[in-house]
Amino acid sequence: MTTSPARLRKAVLPVAGLGTRVLPGTKTTPKELLNVVDRPILSYIVEEAREAGIEHIVFVTGRAKQAIEDYFDHQIELEAQLLAKGKIELLEAMNAELATAGEMSFTRQMQPKGLGHAVWCARDIIGHEPFAVILPDVIVDSQPGALKQLADLYAEVGGNVIGVEAVPEAAAHKYGIIDPSAQDGRRFAMKGMVEKPKQGTAPSNMSISGRYILQPEIFDLLETQERGAGGEIQLTDAMDRLMKTQTFTAYEYEGVTHDCGDKIGLLRANVALALKRPDLGEAARAAITALL
Ligand code: G1P
Repeated sequence: MTTSPARLRKAVLPVAGLGTRVLPGTKTTPKELLNVVDRPILSYIVEEAREAGIEHIVFVTGRAKQAIEDYFDHQIELEAQLLAKGKIELLEAMNAELATAGEMSFTRQMQPKGLGHAVWCARDIIGHEPFAVILPDVIVDSQPGALKQLADLYAEVGGNVIGVEAVPEAAAHKYGIIDPSAQDGRRFAMKGMVEKPKQGTAPSNMSISGRYILQPEIFDLLETQERGAGGEIQLTDAMDRLMKTQTFTAYEYEGVTHDCGDKIGLLRANVALALKRPDLGEAARAAITALL
Protein backbone atom coordinates (compact mmCIF):
# COMPACT_ATOMS: atom_id res chain seq x y z
CA MET A 1 0.00 0.00 0.00
CA THR A 2 1.39 3.43 -0.89
CA THR A 3 0.92 6.20 1.65
CA SER A 4 0.11 9.70 0.44
CA PRO A 5 2.64 12.47 1.17
CA ALA A 6 2.30 14.37 4.47
CA ARG A 7 -0.06 17.31 4.02
CA LEU A 8 1.47 20.67 3.13
CA ARG A 9 0.19 23.24 5.66
CA LYS A 10 2.95 25.76 6.30
CA ALA A 11 5.00 28.25 4.30
CA VAL A 12 8.09 30.31 5.01
CA LEU A 13 8.28 33.79 3.52
CA PRO A 14 11.77 35.27 3.83
CA VAL A 15 11.23 39.03 4.07
CA ALA A 16 14.41 40.26 5.75
CA GLY A 17 16.08 41.52 2.55
CA LEU A 18 16.95 45.21 2.34
CA GLY A 19 15.68 45.86 -1.18
CA THR A 20 18.86 47.59 -2.33
CA ARG A 21 17.89 47.24 -6.00
CA VAL A 22 14.90 49.55 -5.53
CA LEU A 23 16.34 52.14 -3.14
CA PRO A 24 15.53 54.79 -2.02
CA GLY A 25 11.91 53.56 -2.16
CA THR A 26 12.80 50.83 0.31
CA LYS A 27 14.63 53.06 2.79
CA THR A 28 11.64 53.20 5.16
CA THR A 29 9.13 50.90 3.39
CA PRO A 30 9.83 47.15 3.27
CA LYS A 31 10.25 46.17 -0.39
CA GLU A 32 7.53 43.55 0.07
CA LEU A 33 5.06 46.36 0.79
CA LEU A 34 5.73 48.33 -2.39
CA ASN A 35 2.52 48.59 -4.36
CA VAL A 36 1.77 46.73 -7.55
CA VAL A 37 -1.27 48.60 -8.91
CA ASP A 38 -3.12 49.16 -5.61
CA ARG A 39 -1.90 46.52 -3.20
CA PRO A 40 1.48 45.46 -1.85
CA ILE A 41 3.56 42.73 -3.48
CA LEU A 42 3.08 40.71 -0.30
CA SER A 43 -0.68 40.74 -0.75
CA TYR A 44 -0.28 38.79 -4.02
CA ILE A 45 2.14 36.36 -2.34
CA VAL A 46 -0.10 35.63 0.66
CA GLU A 47 -3.03 35.13 -1.71
CA GLU A 48 -0.94 32.59 -3.66
CA ALA A 49 -0.04 30.75 -0.42
CA ARG A 50 -3.62 30.59 0.80
CA GLU A 51 -4.83 29.36 -2.59
CA ALA A 52 -2.34 26.48 -2.32
CA GLY A 53 -3.91 25.42 0.99
CA ILE A 54 -1.31 26.99 3.30
CA GLU A 55 -2.72 27.43 6.80
CA HIS A 56 0.26 28.94 8.60
CA ILE A 57 2.68 31.50 7.21
CA VAL A 58 6.02 32.07 8.90
CA PHE A 59 7.58 35.42 8.03
CA VAL A 60 11.31 35.64 8.54
CA THR A 61 11.68 39.37 9.01
CA GLY A 62 14.40 41.80 9.99
CA ARG A 63 14.81 45.22 11.53
CA ALA A 64 12.60 47.98 10.07
CA LYS A 65 10.08 45.44 8.78
CA GLN A 66 7.38 45.90 11.45
CA ALA A 67 4.99 47.33 8.87
CA ILE A 68 4.63 43.82 7.41
CA GLU A 69 3.09 42.53 10.65
CA ASP A 70 0.80 45.56 10.83
CA TYR A 71 -0.41 45.10 7.26
CA PHE A 72 -2.25 41.89 8.15
CA ASP A 73 -3.80 43.33 11.35
CA HIS A 74 -6.72 45.72 11.89
CA GLN A 75 -6.23 49.43 11.37
CA ILE A 76 -9.04 50.58 13.62
CA GLU A 77 -9.19 54.31 12.72
CA LEU A 78 -9.03 53.60 9.00
CA GLU A 79 -11.73 50.94 9.20
CA ALA A 80 -14.00 53.29 11.20
CA GLN A 81 -13.48 56.03 8.60
CA LEU A 82 -14.29 53.75 5.67
CA LEU A 83 -17.40 52.51 7.46
CA ALA A 84 -18.52 56.07 8.26
CA LYS A 85 -18.05 57.06 4.61
CA GLY A 86 -19.94 54.01 3.34
CA LYS A 87 -16.91 52.57 1.50
CA ILE A 88 -18.07 49.09 2.34
CA GLU A 89 -16.61 47.27 -0.66
CA LEU A 90 -13.12 48.56 0.04
CA LEU A 91 -13.49 47.76 3.73
CA GLU A 92 -14.57 44.22 2.94
CA ALA A 93 -11.68 43.71 0.52
CA MET A 94 -9.25 44.87 3.20
CA ASN A 95 -10.81 42.70 5.89
CA ALA A 96 -10.63 39.64 3.65
CA GLU A 97 -6.83 39.89 3.73
CA LEU A 98 -6.43 40.02 7.50
CA ALA A 99 -4.65 37.16 9.22
CA THR A 100 -6.98 34.67 10.84
CA ALA A 101 -6.25 33.91 14.51
CA GLY A 102 -2.86 32.21 14.74
CA GLU A 103 -2.34 32.06 10.97
CA MET A 104 0.87 34.09 10.93
CA SER A 105 4.11 33.87 12.89
CA PHE A 106 7.04 36.24 12.78
CA THR A 107 10.65 35.48 13.57
CA ARG A 108 13.77 37.51 12.85
CA GLN A 109 16.88 36.83 10.86
CA MET A 110 19.20 39.16 12.74
CA GLN A 111 22.10 39.02 10.30
CA PRO A 112 22.00 38.96 6.48
CA LYS A 113 23.58 35.52 6.08
CA GLY A 114 21.65 34.38 3.01
CA LEU A 115 18.45 32.61 2.01
CA GLY A 116 19.50 29.26 3.51
CA HIS A 117 20.06 30.89 6.88
CA ALA A 118 16.72 32.76 6.65
CA VAL A 119 14.84 29.49 6.05
CA TRP A 120 16.74 27.82 8.90
CA CYS A 121 15.52 30.58 11.26
CA ALA A 122 11.98 29.16 10.82
CA ARG A 123 12.91 25.59 11.84
CA ASP A 124 11.24 25.55 15.27
CA ILE A 125 8.00 27.08 14.01
CA ILE A 126 7.81 24.65 11.10
CA GLY A 127 8.70 21.55 13.14
CA HIS A 128 8.84 18.14 11.51
CA GLU A 129 6.59 18.52 8.48
CA PRO A 130 6.86 19.52 4.82
CA PHE A 131 6.72 23.23 4.11
CA ALA A 132 6.73 25.67 1.24
CA VAL A 133 9.15 28.54 0.69
CA ILE A 134 7.92 31.49 -1.35
CA LEU A 135 10.30 34.28 -2.31
CA PRO A 136 8.25 37.47 -2.21
CA ASP A 137 10.39 39.29 -4.78
CA VAL A 138 8.68 37.28 -7.46
CA ILE A 139 5.01 37.61 -8.40
CA VAL A 140 3.91 34.79 -10.68
CA ASP A 141 0.83 35.73 -12.68
CA SER A 142 -0.90 32.41 -13.29
CA GLN A 143 -4.16 30.56 -12.89
CA PRO A 144 -3.95 28.53 -10.68
CA GLY A 145 -1.09 30.13 -8.77
CA ALA A 146 2.44 28.75 -9.03
CA LEU A 147 2.47 27.28 -5.52
CA LYS A 148 -0.88 25.55 -6.10
CA GLN A 149 0.58 23.96 -9.23
CA LEU A 150 3.56 22.71 -7.21
CA ALA A 151 1.32 21.57 -4.32
CA ASP A 152 -0.81 19.49 -6.70
CA LEU A 153 2.32 17.82 -8.04
CA TYR A 154 3.62 17.29 -4.49
CA ALA A 155 0.36 15.56 -3.52
CA GLU A 156 1.05 13.16 -6.38
CA VAL A 157 4.80 12.54 -6.14
CA GLY A 158 5.79 13.61 -2.58
CA GLY A 159 9.40 14.36 -1.69
CA ASN A 160 10.72 17.80 -2.55
CA VAL A 161 9.31 19.86 -5.43
CA ILE A 162 10.83 23.07 -6.78
CA GLY A 163 9.54 25.54 -9.34
CA VAL A 164 11.77 26.28 -12.32
CA GLU A 165 11.63 28.41 -15.42
CA ALA A 166 13.78 28.93 -18.47
CA VAL A 167 16.11 31.94 -18.46
CA PRO A 168 18.42 33.25 -21.21
CA GLU A 169 21.82 31.57 -20.95
CA ALA A 170 23.50 34.93 -20.39
CA ALA A 171 21.41 35.47 -17.24
CA ALA A 172 21.92 32.01 -15.68
CA HIS A 173 24.68 33.27 -13.36
CA LYS A 174 22.10 35.28 -11.41
CA TYR A 175 20.07 32.24 -10.28
CA GLY A 176 20.09 28.77 -8.83
CA ILE A 177 20.24 26.40 -11.83
CA ILE A 178 19.26 22.74 -12.01
CA ASP A 179 21.25 19.98 -13.67
CA PRO A 180 18.47 17.87 -15.23
CA SER A 181 18.82 14.14 -15.84
CA ALA A 182 15.41 13.49 -17.42
CA GLN A 183 12.40 15.47 -18.63
CA ASP A 184 8.75 14.47 -18.84
CA GLY A 185 6.73 17.41 -20.15
CA ARG A 186 7.04 20.11 -17.50
CA ARG A 187 8.67 17.77 -14.97
CA PHE A 188 12.40 17.28 -14.53
CA ALA A 189 14.45 14.77 -12.58
CA MET A 190 17.83 16.15 -11.57
CA LYS A 191 21.33 15.03 -10.77
CA GLY A 192 22.28 18.27 -9.06
CA MET A 193 21.83 22.00 -8.79
CA VAL A 194 24.18 24.94 -8.46
CA GLU A 195 23.74 28.43 -7.03
CA LYS A 196 24.84 31.28 -9.30
CA PRO A 197 27.12 29.32 -11.66
CA LYS A 198 30.00 31.26 -13.21
CA GLN A 199 29.26 32.64 -16.69
CA GLY A 200 29.35 29.88 -19.28
CA THR A 201 29.31 27.00 -16.75
CA ALA A 202 25.55 26.62 -16.09
CA PRO A 203 24.41 22.98 -16.42
CA SER A 204 21.12 24.09 -18.05
CA ASN A 205 18.98 27.19 -18.62
CA MET A 206 16.35 26.14 -16.05
CA SER A 207 16.44 28.49 -13.08
CA ILE A 208 15.07 27.92 -9.60
CA SER A 209 12.54 30.69 -9.51
CA GLY A 210 11.42 31.16 -5.91
CA ARG A 211 8.80 28.49 -5.17
CA TYR A 212 9.77 25.40 -3.19
CA ILE A 213 8.14 22.52 -1.29
CA LEU A 214 10.70 20.99 1.03
CA GLN A 215 10.96 18.22 3.59
CA PRO A 216 12.05 19.18 7.13
CA GLU A 217 15.34 17.24 6.86
CA ILE A 218 16.62 20.32 5.01
CA PHE A 219 16.95 22.06 8.40
CA ASP A 220 19.68 19.69 9.65
CA LEU A 221 21.63 20.32 6.46
CA LEU A 222 21.16 24.09 6.68
CA GLU A 223 22.52 24.01 10.21
CA THR A 224 25.88 22.77 8.95
CA GLN A 225 25.78 24.42 5.54
CA GLU A 226 28.95 26.31 4.70
CA ARG A 227 28.87 29.66 2.99
CA GLY A 228 28.62 29.42 -0.78
CA ALA A 229 28.03 31.89 -3.62
CA GLY A 230 28.33 35.52 -2.50
CA GLY A 231 29.64 34.36 0.90
CA GLU A 232 26.05 33.45 1.91
CA ILE A 233 24.47 30.28 3.28
CA GLN A 234 22.61 29.10 0.20
CA LEU A 235 19.38 27.09 0.19
CA THR A 236 20.40 25.65 -3.18
CA ASP A 237 23.58 24.11 -1.67
CA ALA A 238 21.60 22.41 1.12
CA MET A 239 19.02 21.13 -1.41
CA ASP A 240 21.85 19.74 -3.53
CA ARG A 241 22.99 17.75 -0.45
CA LEU A 242 19.44 16.63 0.42
CA MET A 243 19.09 15.26 -3.12
CA LYS A 244 21.50 12.48 -2.19
CA THR A 245 18.92 10.95 0.19
CA GLN A 246 15.53 12.27 -0.98
CA THR A 247 13.69 12.70 -4.25
CA PHE A 248 13.47 16.11 -5.90
CA THR A 249 11.20 17.00 -8.79
CA ALA A 250 11.55 20.28 -10.64
CA TYR A 251 8.41 21.63 -12.28
CA GLU A 252 8.23 24.29 -14.97
CA TYR A 253 4.98 25.85 -13.80
CA GLU A 254 2.71 27.81 -16.12
CA GLY A 255 2.62 31.57 -15.65
CA VAL A 256 4.37 34.88 -16.20
CA THR A 257 7.04 35.85 -13.66
CA HIS A 258 7.60 39.42 -12.51
CA ASP A 259 10.77 40.12 -10.52
CA CYS A 260 9.49 42.93 -8.32
CA GLY A 261 12.83 43.33 -6.54
CA ASP A 262 14.12 45.06 -9.67
CA LYS A 263 13.18 48.55 -10.96
CA ILE A 264 12.08 47.47 -14.41
CA GLY A 265 10.53 44.23 -13.15
CA LEU A 266 8.42 46.22 -10.68
CA LEU A 267 7.36 48.66 -13.39
CA ARG A 268 6.48 45.77 -15.72
CA ALA A 269 4.43 44.07 -12.98
CA ASN A 270 2.47 47.29 -12.45
CA VAL A 271 1.77 47.70 -16.15
CA ALA A 272 0.94 44.04 -16.81
CA LEU A 273 -1.35 43.59 -13.82
CA ALA A 274 -3.10 46.95 -14.31
CA LEU A 275 -3.83 46.05 -17.94
CA LYS A 276 -5.44 42.78 -16.80
CA ARG A 277 -7.70 44.33 -14.18
CA PRO A 278 -11.37 44.37 -15.26
CA ASP A 279 -11.96 47.68 -13.43
CA LEU A 280 -8.79 49.46 -14.59
CA GLY A 281 -7.54 47.78 -17.73
CA GLU A 282 -9.11 50.11 -20.25
CA ALA A 283 -8.04 53.29 -18.45
CA ALA A 284 -4.54 51.85 -17.93
CA ARG A 285 -4.22 51.04 -21.62
CA ALA A 286 -5.28 54.56 -22.62
CA ALA A 287 -2.85 56.16 -20.16
CA ILE A 288 0.08 53.99 -21.25
CA THR A 289 -0.63 54.36 -24.98
CA ALA A 290 -0.74 58.14 -24.61
CA LEU A 291 2.85 58.03 -23.36
CA LEU A 292 4.27 56.11 -26.31
C1 G1P B 1 17.58 33.45 -4.76
C2 G1P B 1 18.01 31.97 -4.78
C3 G1P B 1 18.24 31.51 -6.22
C4 G1P B 1 17.00 31.75 -7.05
C5 G1P B 1 16.57 33.24 -6.96
C6 G1P B 1 15.23 33.45 -7.65
O1 G1P B 1 18.66 34.24 -5.19
O2 G1P B 1 19.19 31.84 -4.01
O3 G1P B 1 18.54 30.14 -6.23
O4 G1P B 1 17.23 31.40 -8.40
O5 G1P B 1 16.43 33.66 -5.59
O6 G1P B 1 14.86 34.78 -7.65
P1 G1P B 1 18.70 35.84 -4.97
O7 G1P B 1 17.85 36.44 -6.04
O8 G1P B 1 18.17 36.10 -3.59
O9 G1P B 1 20.15 36.21 -5.10
